[in-house]
Amino acid sequence: MSIALLYERSENDENGIKLTAQQLGIDLTFIPFRKIALSISKDGFSAKTKGKDYTQTFHDTKVVLNRAQSKNRRLQASYLMEMLGKKTLNTSQSEFICYSKLRTLLHLFKEGLPIPKTVFVPCDSTDTLKNGKEIHNEKDIADLFEAEIPLKEGIVIKADAGTHGKMIMLSKNREELEASIKETKSSIINPIGVVAQELVQKWFYDLRIIVSQERGKEPVCYHTAMARAGFKDFRTNTFLGNLVFHAKLPLSIQDLAVKCGKTLGKGSDAWIFALDAMVNVGENKNADDTYLKGELDTAAQAWVPVQKVKQDETRLTNFPTWTGKLEAAFKTYKSTDAYGNVTDIIEESIRKNVDALVFHESNSCPEFWENTRLATGLNVAIPLLRGAQSLIDH
Ligand SMILES: Nc1ncnc2c1ncn2[C@@H]1O[C@H](COP(=O)(O)OP(=O)(O)OP(=O)(O)O)[C@@H](O)[C@H]1O
Ligand SMILES: [Mg+2]
Repeated sequence: MSIALLYERSENDENGIKLTAQQLGIDLTFIPFRKIALSISKDGFSAKTKGKDYTQTFHDTKVVLNRAQSKNRRLQASYLMEMLGKKTLNTSQSEFICYSKLRTLLHLFKEGLPIPKTVFVPCDSTDTLKNGKEIHNEKDIADLFEAEIPLKEGIVIKADAGTHGKMIMLSKNREELEASIKETKSSIINPIGVVAQELVQKWFYDLRIIVSQERGKEPVCYHTAMARAGFKDFRTNTFLGNLVFHAKLPLSIQDLAVKCGKTLGKGSDAWIFALDAMVNVGENKNADDTYLKGELDTAAQAWVPVQKVKQDETRLTNFPTWTGKLEAAFKTYKSTDAYGNVTDIIEESIRKNVDALVFHESNSCPEFWENTRLATGLNVAIPLLRGAQSLIDH
């Protein structure tokens, strides 16, 4: 009985998991989850790509590491595998929760964990009648939001199931608010209604915190978070050109993160989540913005060689060598004074505002090889593989 790595395409994270498994002496099998026919009939179950029959592989799999990238495909994969009697990391229940930002927040809210004020209106911005006529609901939805969140402080409209900062829009006046609501057409990343959130005054950074649990052990929060930082956009996603740093977490925040993990992983013996959190710094800043922008600009120059290695195509042909190059470039970036100065500011800011942290999202299949691992020192593949192993050992 084995651990299977299920994926759509083998990207850096999946190659990183393979490499780590080799290093740990853990056998992995591989299950493609895209161009494969999964068939059920009176003759039983079969799984075949055009070139290969995977039925036996499915049969021999006990635990599935679900690395399908699209949220829908990942949810379907976990559910299907569970129906075939496999253990999954994460379970379909956790995938279902993390799929939706609203569902995640509802779970955290119920446990009394800190979240940004979030308002859901189940109505879509536009309804199309049978005769093709459109009914516009933007104004009513905007009124409902404005009654709950002061617009002058900023309202964030977000696609409930979006990623990479897509369809996350900030409005500070009525015109912008109505326009943002209008943008949220019902789609695969926003299945129903409109989600709004108070604007968290997070200064220039947010945090990605890793929590995990192995069967038979206490859940853990990794002591250092990845901080994504920059003044480029109110969204701090690295995808939008922001920089990455690390930040040591106060124990009280680690405890809160563990509680989040327990809530999202309830009912399963092993889980792993990357929690996104913001600190509502407001005016409680510990550095001057002009100085900080200067340090971020200097850090951005030191980041260029890292970006260059990331784009280097040798990752496709010689992943271990490329990884070595990336590690070397990252080490140089981290050794700059600017990196150290920004990290110090972030860490102090967190300490000064511990009680102002809110969790706003949980990622059930986080990217980690390029940024989280090198910034924080945690190779997420290790807790992932250990979690899977713990489900086999028992
Ligand atoms: N309520 C908010 N107040 C202030 N900034 C926000 C708020 N919501 C989101 N942001 C900013 O936008 C970024 C993206 O938002 P969020 O994490 O909700 O979704 P995402 O980008 O779709 O997810 P992922 O991090 O998985 O790519 C956050 O990292 C944060 O910087
Ligand atoms: Mg996020």
